[in-house]
Amino acid sequence: MHKRDFIKTAGAASLFTAVHPWGSFGMQIGNSKKVLILGGRGFLGPSIVEEFLASGHQVTLLNRGKTNTHLFTDLPIIICDREKENKQGFNAINKKYKNSYWDIVVDTWQKSPKAVSDFLEVFKGQFGHYHYISTVSVYDKWDKKFIVESEPLNPLPKFPKTIGEAFRYAIRKTLAEEAIRERTSNYTIYRSHGMKDFRVTRPDDPNAEPFWPVRFLRGGELLVPRIPDHHMQVTDIKSLTRFIVHCANSASYGAFNVAYDPTPFKDFISSLIHATARTKTMHWIDGDFLIENGLLPYKIVPLWKPTPAGSYYFNVQKAIGAGLVNRPMVDMITDQLNGYKSRHPHDDVRFGEMVEGKQLKYYSMAKEREVIKKWVAR
Ligand SMILES: NC(=O)c1ccc[n+]([C@@H]2O[C@H](COP(=O)([O-])OP(=O)(O)OC[C@H]3O[C@@H](n4cnc5c(N)ncnc54)[C@H](OP(=O)(O)O)[C@@H]3O)[C@@H](O)[C@H]2O)c1
Repeated sequence: MHKRDFIKTAGAASLFTAVHPWGSFGMQIGNSKKVLILGGRGFLGPSIVEEFLASGHQVTLLNRGKTNTHLFTDLPIIICDREKENKQGFNAINKKYKNSYWDIVVDTWQKSPKAVSDFLEVFKGQFGHYHYISTVSVYDKWDKKFIVESEPLNPLPKFPKTIGEAFRYAIRKTLAEEAIRERTSNYTIYRSHGMKDFRVTRPDDPNAEPFWPVRFLRGGELLVPRIPDHHMQVTDIKSLTRFIVHCANSASYGAFNVAYDPTPFKDFISSLIHATARTKTMHWIDGDFLIENGLLPYKIVPLWKPTPAGSYYFNVQKAIGAGLVNRPMVDMITDQLNGYKSRHPHDDVRFGEMVEGKQLKYYSMAKEREVIKKWVAR
């Protein structure tokens, strides 16, 4: 199936689940709200749109009408370029929409924080509850485990006067959060942590594909890092989007770390085994041995990050208390694999190799065989 058709089908499947039992978590038939999604047609946005539709809400999109235009063609769309200086994009919006009131606004914006403050100023008094997708990168220090939402955020430069002022990702997100806190109290901020789904951030970039699920799918002899107290932590998009709708329905405000609880790497491996159900022989290899052989944490071996200490240990109890339900990891992995198979039906992503002059991330199967051979013979 072509990847676009897959996205379409996946969208239709989610709409169908409006009558599925999990809909009861956020089902609002009879109490339908007006929802404006700023963005909505990239990587995470479509899942948010689907979840609100499945819960019976009325969704309108706001974007430039450039990305994934085949998605949600039945939904009203406000064409607006948020990167225009002096609020020109927002000011050019059709009057009908400019004077509308939105019960819920969801903003996935990750570029200039000025675009966030511009929206909040132009639409002041015209929305009930503003939701913003943020990241754990807003925390200043990741040097201890179990960081909670009240920990200090990144020190900030002066808030930009123009869209054009450039900052690194973590600062852009922290500035955007600051703009939100200063301009409204009815907000919910979701600090997410590493996401992959059946969609990926860049469908044409093999580096965006999920390494571990793909490796386990291939089966055979594979290496697994054996590291004391090794945990991993990621955000599941389905669980996040259900939580967003839940917060919208229950008017839950504030900032939340949203991810799985810190998860023993061995449990992640169990989920990979269940999701891929293919015969494999695993070689649990000591971390020091992997490093000696060039298989370095994180950049080469994903989801292994010894430093800083808090990297895979964010505290998500506040979100759980507010209603976050993380679905079984095996379901997330299955979604990731379905997306991978739709984009690469011939399983042709060659991690760690040079492909058309481009070095792909992680490590190759040849490197893996070499390290396993050495480990077995040591
Ligand atoms: N990937 C991760 O692991 C990870 C981790 C933590 C947090 N996050 C956060 O998750 C969020 C995900 O965002 P997403 O890209 O998936 O959102 P999305 O809403 O799915 O896609 C981005 C949308 O923005 C629109 N857009 C782009 N430029 C625009 C402009 N100038 N004016 C108006 N609209 C514009 C695009 O449509 P048009 O091009 O048609 O305008 C598109 O619909 C980001 O904030 C990111 O920081 C990601």
